[in-house]
Amino acid sequence: MKIKSWKSQVVRAASPFVHEIGKYKRQFRRKIWIQRGILDRFKGQALEETFDTIYREGVWGKGSGLGSEGLWADEYIAFVRKFIEDKEVRTITDVGCGDFGVGARIIDLVEAYNATDVSALIIERNKKKFDCPNVKFIHLDACAHALPAADLITIRQVLQHLTNAEIESILTNVEKSGAKFCIVAEHLPSEKEFVGPNIDMPSHGAGIRPFIGSGVLIDQPPFSRAANMAMTIHDPDPASRERLGIFVYAMQ
Ligand SMILES: C[S@@+](CC[C@H](N)C(=O)[O-])C[C@H]1O[C@@H](n2cnc3c(N)ncnc32)[C@H](O)[C@@H]1O
Repeated sequence: MKIKSWKSQVVRAASPFVHEIGKYKRQFRRKIWIQRGILDRFKGQALEETFDTIYREGVWGKGSGLGSEGLWADEYIAFVRKFIEDKEVRTITDVGCGDFGVGARIIDLVEAYNATDVSALIIERNKKKFDCPNVKFIHLDACAHALPAADLITIRQVLQHLTNAEIESILTNVEKSGAKFCIVAEHLPSEKEFVGPNIDMPSHGAGIRPFIGSGVLIDQPPFSRAANMAMTIHDPDPASRERLGIFVYAMQ
């Protein structure tokens, strides 16, 4: 009798934790299933075709998606603006500028801003929407083409959509560009859901690594760049706890 009551007390005390673990496992499995379709959808398609389709169909909603608005955008912009002032940055090349909602809030601080994207569709939309004398909208694939020279290169929520081989090509092109600094901002899972860094994706596309418990950390293998995580911004939604990690890679 005594043993039975001791056991039932342990079971009762442990049940909230068991429940939490079960909930976490179910959420994780569901995310993988949802993502499997998203991760595979653009397999075999060229980069330009993929991102044109995403913008044409509004796969992320309007423009570049929710990650480009709200607290994550505000705090990222504040970080970059301070960085520009501290390091006396005069010129920027933005890799994967998307709908330019973020870039448009930085351009007043610099002499020249090269806003580049692999999607011809979004570049044409931006040219019609924005008329800024110091901004050039440039259609290019950062995996394959030389990047316009600038003091600072920014890459915000771009690498997370690409395979590890594509990310490596972009980092190599960034290094060849002669820029002094590169700021990379990436969507990371919550600490609880983190399985490991840089788990490869089957293809580039609309999906991102946090749904498979991973995220792009450019200081970790296979990239291993001498970059520092300068800041993490937590998702304001307490149910999510996902993060935006901001890396600074000083190349000179
Ligand atoms: C999620 S959006 C982010 C847009 C913007 N940086 C922001 O934070 O709002 C990702 C963008 O990266 C662009 N992109 C993806 N691969 C690229 C590549 N290889 N070269 C240039 N742009 C690329 C996509 O077309 C898309 O506009």
